[in-house]
Amino acid sequence: MARILRLVACAALWASSLSAQGDSLYTAWCSHCHGADARGTPAATTKLDVPPADLASCAASTAETEDRWVGIVTRGGAAFGLSLDMPAYGEGATRDQIRMVVRYVRSLCGEHGWPPGELNFARGFLIEKAFPENELIAVAHAYEQQLIYERRMGRRFQFEAEATTVLDSQGRPFESVTGALKYNIWHSLEHRALATLGVEATPPLGRRDRWELAPYLSAGAERLGFTIQGQAVASWEEARGIAGASYRLGISHEIAARRLVPMIEAGWDVPQAGANALSLYPQLWIKLSRLGHVAGCLGAEVPVTGVSPPRSKLIAFLLWDFGDAPLLRGW
Ligand code: HEC
Repeated sequence: MARILRLVACAALWASSLSAQGDSLYTAWCSHCHGADARGTPAATTKLDVPPADLASCAASTAETEDRWVGIVTRGGAAFGLSLDMPAYGEGATRDQIRMVVRYVRSLCGEHGWPPGELNFARGFLIEKAFPENELIAVAHAYEQQLIYERRMGRRFQFEAEATTVLDSQGRPFESVTGALKYNIWHSLEHRALATLGVEATPPLGRRDRWELAPYLSAGAERLGFTIQGQAVASWEEARGIAGASYRLGISHEIAARRLVPMIEAGWDVPQAGANALSLYPQLWIKLSRLGHVAGCLGAEVPVTGVSPPRSKLIAFLLWDFGDAPLLRGW
């Protein structure tokens, strides 16, 4: 028992000396630019072209991975298309010192409940991501186009608005608008997994003649270097009631230092009336900016059963994570 207590005391001392060291490294190396409290207000004597980041903000630190911040501190801002003012510490500091100072600044958030950036898996074409995002996305699905705006609210909520148009022979391109809200109900960095509940509402506008609601559950997990994402959606229509359900499952794997993410999704539609339909969506997610805040995806929808004639369609999207950096920075 005494030995266990000694071990526990040792571990606690070690942890507190780590954070004390992170603290003093921060004061020595970073504080004249990022501010004594890390809130991004530089010392009066420091002149910078770009405002230094607020490192203590929960919204900023939790949206990114620890490794990304270690990368920026090691290789400097310029290596990620950020300002040259953010120096590279890789030559002058040890890896442990860099990890310590990064852990120290990330600990300044101090609030529980923010899903960590490590669980922000690459977006698929079909499956609604479980991670709340600040993103603008332009989607193409054969003759259909979609513009999606996603905005985080607080720690776990995300609001979403989307507009859909279809360029077909009908000559009335405006198809629909949808509003959605999602809430991250659970996440665990230790288990590398998260789950989110959401609901989408489509009013009778454009080509839609009745209200539609689609509550869903989304989840994601990382295992052995693979990411598995899934979504179950129910659909309800005004005057008709439950119209059906959809089940979606995707698997992806990062390659080329996370610059490319090949992915395959499967979508199984089970309508209340009519035949079930299964389609596969092979696709490639591509990081476009050096910072990774602008990315694209290209692939195909390949009907397997239930759709006749079974014609494949082109799928693509372009996304900008505006919470991360302005559109023209980070290249
Ligand atoms: C000479 C001034 C300066 C010093 C010293 C400095 N930084 Fe920075 N840092 C900046 C600036 C300016 C930016 C913003 C770059 C941009 O947005 O283009 C930045 C950005 C960052 C970012 C990226 C934040 C994000 O949201 O992407 C991190 C992380 C960071 N700094 C950590 C540190 C740490 C840790 C230290 C000390 C080891 C440090 N910085 C020292 C000026 C500095």
